[in-house]
Amino acid sequence: MSRRPAALTAAAAVTGALALTGCSDSGTSKAELSVSGSYMPQPVSADMAAGFLTITNKGGTKDELTAVRSEAAGQITMHSTLGGEMRERSSFAIPAHGRLVFRSGGNHLMFEQLRHRPKQGQTVTLKLTFAKTGPLTVEMPVKSATYHPTTGN
Ligand code: CU
Repeated sequence: MSRRPAALTAAAAVTGALALTGCSDSGTSKAELSVSGSYMPQPVSADMAAGFLTITNKGGTKDELTAVRSEAAGQITMHSTLGGEMRERSSFAIPAHGRLVFRSGGNHLMFEQLRHRPKQGQTVTLKLTFAKTGPLTVEMPVKSATYHPTTGN
C-alpha cells in the first residue's frame, strides 16, 4: 500500500483559501485550475481519513492531478471507486473545460498515517501537484463525520 515515500519537506507557506503558484506566461491555452467544495469528514479512525474536493479547469488544455501531500498525514493516496471496489490511482485526468470530482462514494483522497486526528472545525492543508500546472494549496475544512455537501458537486 505505501510504496510512495512521504516526502514532506518544509511546510508550505499557507495564506488564504488557496494559492496558485507557478508561472502564468506564454500566450498558449493552458489549464486554469481552481479547487472548490473541499472537506474532510471528521475521521472515526485515529490513523486514517477521507477527503473530497472538486478541481475545475477553465482552460483549454487538460491536466492531471499527480500527487496530494499534507503535513497532517504520512501519505495521501488517490482512489477511484468502480463497482463498489476502490482502486488506488497514480493520477487523475482533469479535462479541458471540465472538472475532476472527488465525492463520497466515488473518487476520494485517503489520508494515511495521520499525525493527529483532525477535529471538526479545524482545517487540513493540502498541496496538490499537477502534471502541467503549478501546485495548488488547499485549506480543507474538517466537517462532522456525517457531513454531506448540500450543493451537488
Ligand atoms: Cu479508498
